[in-house]
Amino acid sequence: MQSDVELDANYWNARYVAGQTGWDAGAITPPLRDYFDQLSLPRTSKILIPGAGRGYEAEYLHTAGYNNVFVADIAPEALRDLQQRVPDFPAEHLLEQDFFTLPADSAYDLIVEQTFFCALNPSLRPTYAQQCAALLRSGGTLMGLLFDTVFSQPGPPFGGSRAEYESYFAPYFDFVHFSSAHNSIPPRQGRELFMCLKKK
Ligand SMILES: C[S@@+](CC[C@H](N)C(=O)[O-])C[C@H]1O[C@@H](n2cnc3c(N)ncnc32)[C@H](O)[C@@H]1O
Repeated sequence: MQSDVELDANYWNARYVAGQTGWDAGAITPPLRDYFDQLSLPRTSKILIPGAGRGYEAEYLHTAGYNNVFVADIAPEALRDLQQRVPDFPAEHLLEQDFFTLPADSAYDLIVEQTFFCALNPSLRPTYAQQCAALLRSGGTLMGLLFDTVFSQPGPPFGGSRAEYESYFAPYFDFVHFSSAHNSIPPRQGRELFMCLKKK
């Protein structure tokens, strides 16, 4: 099912301006925090958080010393929030850009997903997987959370299942981990998959 509304920059920015951001957990979520805490990448690793919104994951990684973290979002209001909260986050790493138009230069070591995939019209899912692969270096990682549920309301968010998602990612990625998350925030408990995929 597709959205009847155009899910463009105006749509998303207006949601931030109006404070209609029910997806926003207000802080980094435990599955991502725990993953980052055990991450053994060099601090110079190039990391992308697409559809990052207010960017709590970017803030967490930045504070942990990762100095090559980029966020890409089409809603300027979301990026402004991150910039104001974390004034020393490099301004040139705040990309006000459509994820699908980012240069496919295999430059990233890690891409982090949280409630971006589910915010896209589902017809874009195969292209999302292809674009993640194009942005990552060989052996790079796509990790994060995907909803493992079907929503009764029209999206966004749009739900799905592990079998459906596997079909998009399998052409480009090896599956390191792809199973129920055990430490989701309460409203998402039992309804999220933790994903860790390695680019072939
Ligand atoms: C549901 S929100 C999730 C935000 C954030 N990941 C979070 O968990 O709070 C989806 C985000 O994706 C952004 N977005 C939607 N389409 C996009 C696109 N094509 N490229 C970049 N960002 C996009 C929106 O502006 C919004 O900030």
